[in-house]
Amino acid sequence: MIVGYSNGEQFLLSFHSQKPGATSRAFGTVRATFRGREFESSYHVLLELLPKARAMTVLDIGCGNGHLLAMLAKSRPDLRLVGIDFSVDELRSAPVTAAPCLLAARAQSLPLRGASVDAVVSHLALMLMDHADQVLHEAARVLRPGGILAAIVGGAPQQSPALDAYLKILRRYLTASRSPVARFGDPAFSSEQGTRALVSRQFADVALEPVDFVERLKPQAAWAGFEDMYDLYHLPEADRKAIRQEYLAAVRTLVDEQGLLTMRRQLRLIHARRIGEC
Ligand SMILES: C[S@@+](CC[C@H](N)C(=O)[O-])C[C@H]1O[C@@H](n2cnc3c(N)ncnc32)[C@H](O)[C@@H]1O
Repeated sequence: MIVGYSNGEQFLLSFHSQKPGATSRAFGTVRATFRGREFESSYHVLLELLPKARAMTVLDIGCGNGHLLAMLAKSRPDLRLVGIDFSVDELRSAPVTAAPCLLAARAQSLPLRGASVDAVVSHLALMLMDHADQVLHEAARVLRPGGILAAIVGGAPQQSPALDAYLKILRRYLTASRSPVARFGDPAFSSEQGTRALVSRQFADVALEPVDFVERLKPQAAWAGFEDMYDLYHLPEADRKAIRQEYLAAVRTLVDEQGLLTMRRQLRLIHARRIGEC
């Protein structure tokens, strides 16, 4: 047990210690549609939304293995990049080129001076964090007045039989399991209304927009994607093996003539501005 962390945080730390880089493996090469345009990935959507001003300081909250920071370092070498994450194992797995400043810290208490950052970015991390109000308060505190927040969080469930088949089997195993399912994050992020209310307490000009994914992939590849997500990690190895078998059998009727499944998912982009003048 890791002292000082909630059960949910301990679950996250354990997952990310065993599977550093899981999120960038799962989302790094999946094409995303945003505002009617196709992007190489949801990380590229955040890249696009960053103001074009030179020499800005950009903070990535919950940066994981620094995938987004490494992309930023390559495409915008003028930026000063800072990443924070509470998983030392994720930070250790970051490429040396990701950012000169990677800090092991909790997002609820950022080790940065007030008004020292021009933009805060975050990819699939804010919705996992306990005390989201405090996290957003910290993001607003470190931003200069007028600075922007661009974050991608979980989105609304989509009509997707290939995903539904997995969730149905998973739920059955989770219900039957004796292992407790760790709860983490703020439930407000599960709806558009809740997200808007939460972010609007600290930020102005809050805009929420969908980021859509339609993947066509072999059943084995779909399964590999599930293995890089949190849900299966609540269950013992034997259950994971059984779910895999059941899933691969269940989706046999869902593949197209090329043997591919269609998987639809949606995430939510949050764009907001720190209250105050530039
Ligand atoms: C789903 S991963 C996303 C990682 C990275 N942003 C990406 O997309 O590749 C979520 C990250 O948030 C971090 N995290 C969760 N809660 C945190 C907290 N309270 N403070 C700092 N980091 C946290 C986890 O350690 C993990 O690396």
